[in-house]
This record gives sequence, C-alpha cells and structure tokens, in this order.
Amino acid sequence: MAAIEGIKARRVWDSRGKPTVEVDVTLENGVLGRAIAPAGASRGTREAVDLRDGGVMLRGQNVQSALDSVNGPIAAALTGLDVQDQSRADEAILALDNSPLKDTLGGNATVATSLAVLHAAAANAGRPLWQHVAETTGFTPSLPLPEIQIFGGGAHAGRRVDIQDFMIMIPGAASFDEVMEVTSEVYFAAGDIMKSKGKLAGVADEGGWWPVFDSNEEALETLIEAIEKAGEKPGERVVVSLDIAASEFGKEGRYRLALEDRYLDSAEMIEMLGGWLETYPIASIEDPLAEDDVAGTVEFTRRFGDRVQIIGDDYLVTNVDLVRKAQTQGACNAVLIKVNQAGTISESFETFRMARAKGWGAIVSARSGETEDVSISHLATGLGGGQLKVGSFTRSERMIKWNECLRIQDTLGSGSFVGGKPLANTWWGSKNNKETAA
Ligand code: PGA
Ligand code: ZN
Repeated sequence: MAAIEGIKARRVWDSRGKPTVEVDVTLENGVLGRAIAPAGASRGTREAVDLRDGGVMLRGQNVQSALDSVNGPIAAALTGLDVQDQSRADEAILALDNSPLKDTLGGNATVATSLAVLHAAAANAGRPLWQHVAETTGFTPSLPLPEIQIFGGGAHAGRRVDIQDFMIMIPGAASFDEVMEVTSEVYFAAGDIMKSKGKLAGVADEGGWWPVFDSNEEALETLIEAIEKAGEKPGERVVVSLDIAASEFGKEGRYRLALEDRYLDSAEMIEMLGGWLETYPIASIEDPLAEDDVAGTVEFTRRFGDRVQIIGDDYLVTNVDLVRKAQTQGACNAVLIKVNQAGTISESFETFRMARAKGWGAIVSARSGETEDVSISHLATGLGGGQLKVGSFTRSERMIKWNECLRIQDTLGSGSFVGGKPLANTWWGSKNNKETAA
C-alpha cells in the first residue's frame, strides 16, 4: 500500500496553444505521477466534455474551473487512497460526477487525474507504465501497428477536404523501425508531389500536410501516388486507412460534401465509400457514417465488415455501453480508445476489454490537441491491443509518441512488434494469408 498524499493541478498549454490540465499525484513516499489532458476538435456528442471557463479571456478556453475540480473535490476524495487500486480511485472520481459527460468535474480534470494515478502506481512499483499496465490488466504487451496521417482534412485543416484523416498503415513491416522509415519516405514523397502541383498549403493540426485538393478522390489518388513514389506497391507492404469523421458533415441521414458542393443520403454515402474500397487498398475506415446514423453504420458493416476494419470513434466514444450495443446490432468491428472520451482509465480499460472479448480491433488514439504526454504509447503497448493512432509524422507532440515506442522497443525487443496481425480479418490479411499459404 502506498497512499496518495497530494494532488495538484496546474494549467499547461497544448499543441494548438490552448490551455489544458496537468495533474501531479504525489505519494506518501515522495513518488510522483504526472499526466496531461489532451483535447479533441472533432468531438462526439456523447463523449466526456472538457470543463472550460467561457467568457472572453483566452476565447473562453481557460481551464480554471477544471483546475478547481482537481484541487478541490477530487483531491479531497482521493487523498489517503492506495495508489495501486486504480478502480477505487476512479470510483471515487465517479462518486463525485457519474454523469456520462462528466460535465460537473470536467473530463479534462478527471482524465488527467486518473492517468496521473496510473503513472504514480507504475512509478511506485518501479515499472515503466506499459509494463505496469500489462501486469495489472493481464494482457500480453506488444508494440502496436501505427496508423499515420499523411494529409489532414475536416476539422483539422479548415475543412479544406471533407475527409479528416488520410493515413497509411504498414502491416507488411517487420519492425516498428521499418514502419517509421517507410512512413517518412511516403510523407515526404506526398509533400513533393503536392508542392509540384501547387496543392500544398501548409501543415494541419496533427502534423499532416494541409492540402488544396479539388475532391476527396484527388486526395486518395495523391496518397496512392505518394506510396508509389516512395518505391512501394500500394496494398502490399503499405495500405490506406481513412478517418471519414462523418459526424462532422453528416446529420439525420444527410451528408454534405462541401468540396464538391453536393449532398448524399446514407445509402449514397455507403455507395461512395464502397466504391473507394473497390478502387483503393483501404484496410481500415473510421466513422464512415455519422454518429446518429445507426442504420447506415449497421448496413455498411453488413456489406463490408468482412473485408475492412470499421472503427467507431465519435460513434462509440470509448463507452462500454455503446460498444456492447453496437456489437449486438452488428455496427463496426473495432473501437477507437481515447481515454478522455471516457474520462477515466478504468472506464477506458473496460471498453477495451469488451471490444477484445468479441474479437474487435481496439486502437489506442491521441486527440488533435496533444502535448508532450506519452501515456498512449504505453497504454497501446501494455494492453497489447495491436494498434496506435497518434496523428502524423511531424511536430513534437506526435513524434514524441512514436519515439517513445522506439524506446519501449529497446526493453521489449523488436520481436514484440505485432506487424500485420491486427488486420488479419481484413482484405489485406486474407490476401496476405493466401499469399503465404500458396
Ligand atoms: P479529435 O479527432 O481529436 O479532433 O476529436 C481525432 C479523431 O477523430 O480521431
Ligand atoms: Zn476519428
């Protein structure tokens, strides 16, 4: 037993220059655990909300009220508890605010505290965070397969293209290092192509290129061209992954493609995305339909769930009840795990367990507003979930998370990289299994 002695929140700043919450948890023996809350821009309506002060100061984004939640009621409730008992600590937080949105305490206050408790417990046990997570959850640790953004879009690039993330995955890589190497080649090849065609406007929120494309298909074509220019055959070692983030442009079964100035209904969206699955080597697709389009998501999963990973992000908001319901309805076959959508570590892990128990994919993910906090690299590894989404391949709040995986690899060994296994049930997996069988 090591009791929590002090909990202190301070205001720090995220990658978009917005204030956020950092929490220090100090134990009676002097051990420290520290974590910072990330922040989303394309948020699900059912996820935990950040408490922000409103008003004119800092455009309403200040977090004094969230700091007060931590330094007041949360600190009072957690002081004296055993740091090794994460569920007890999270229950104490939930006893103060058990609303799904955590709008009394603020999801930014609860997640930074919950994560800082986990860090303190790991430090107290003398373990790196990934190892502590593996030991306390019983999962076998492994280095995750990354999905890495090449172009940003949607809410992360002034809605310059409708689709939010154009990413690559490298399931054919033999090691995490190889993933980094090939990603670098593809990223800069994409930049060269865009520059030469006058299609490059800068860098988007998560470090991917900010494109000036005329259509979503032009983005896909350019991504394929970049993979080829990097010396790869698309669909072999390198595959495409998309986050449609459809809730950002779709509601009540109507989807507005701003770039092409047209509206699609749910069936037409499914047709369009199905066409892309035919044309491009896409192994994973996130939020293909909006969070309110249950029938559309079920239909999309029925038609394409046996060949592509279908991830619920805004659709499932790391919520165990929503995952259970989606599993019953046959919507999605994978969940994005964002700890600040749930608001505590225990709830996030419960959602992760529920997903894995039914053979679903589970992708630990960053938010578009990030910091130097590298917790997610450890969570993805310690849970052995197989996949990690961090954003792109520039800017330190992203690179620090990839680099942390390289450090973990030094301890865990390069053999712990999951490679293509997480995509075994997709088109990429069946194609490659066939090839190895032949
Ligand atoms: P957000 O989006 O962090 O801006 O909400 C990231 C995602 O949709 O995966
Ligand atoms: Zn998403």
